[in-house]
Amino acid sequence: MRRGLSIFRARADDARVVLPEANLVIDVTLRETIDEDLPILFRHQADPVASEMAAFPSRDEEAFFAHWDEIRADERVINRTILAGGSVVGGIASFVIDGERDVGYWIDRAEWGRGIASAALAAFLEVDATRPIFARVAAHNPRSRRVLEKAGFRLIDRVVADDGVEELVFRLDGDPSL
Ligand SMILES: CC(C)(COP(=O)(O)OP(=O)(O)OC[C@H]1O[C@@H](n2cnc3c(N)ncnc32)[C@H](O)[C@@H]1OP(=O)(O)O)[C@@H](O)C(=O)NCCC(=O)NCCS
Repeated sequence: MRRGLSIFRARADDARVVLPEANLVIDVTLRETIDEDLPILFRHQADPVASEMAAFPSRDEEAFFAHWDEIRADERVINRTILAGGSVVGGIASFVIDGERDVGYWIDRAEWGRGIASAALAAFLEVDATRPIFARVAAHNPRSRRVLEKAGFRLIDRVVADDGVEELVFRLDGDPSL
């Protein structure tokens, strides 16, 4: 996920996740982001552990809401709020940078390791069928790398971002048989 990440808009798609440890099933649902979600999403991105993992600096409240104003004014951005069991657990979005469509996501740290990002990405890739679609992940973020690889993304490049962070560039192509 590139610095300057955009976040979140649009409609619902569902995916079901089997939790291996508890053998439970939860519903992971995407829906259009509403104003009431924003304070929750603000708290997710303010988490210092998550921020370090993503190599993406947390925004203060003023910057966060100003960023959302920009996102909502940009018709190219596709945003979804991620719900698990009916609760807001994160966000996923695609956005255009330098002519390429990128996808990014963020999950509440309390919910990590439950398969939520994987399910949300699978559902989102049906919402946004643009191919190729790209993702950038800090080299020190193997969880996100795993989420992308499970969705079929392949590593195509390594770059050093403006802030000096090494990033892995992933790409997902369309199904060549279609
Ligand atoms: C990265 C992030 C989205 C993952 O969300 P999540 O819901 O915990 O992800 P999932 O549970 O769907 O999948 C995580 C996968 O990583 C694996 N994993 C966990 N720790 C790992 C590690 N240290 N090394 C390699 N794989 C690891 C898990 O086993 C799982 O794979 P599996 O399904 O094959 O078992 C979440 O940690 C997050 O929001 N981080 C902060 C923001 C961020 O980094 N966003 C992505 C920026 S590109």
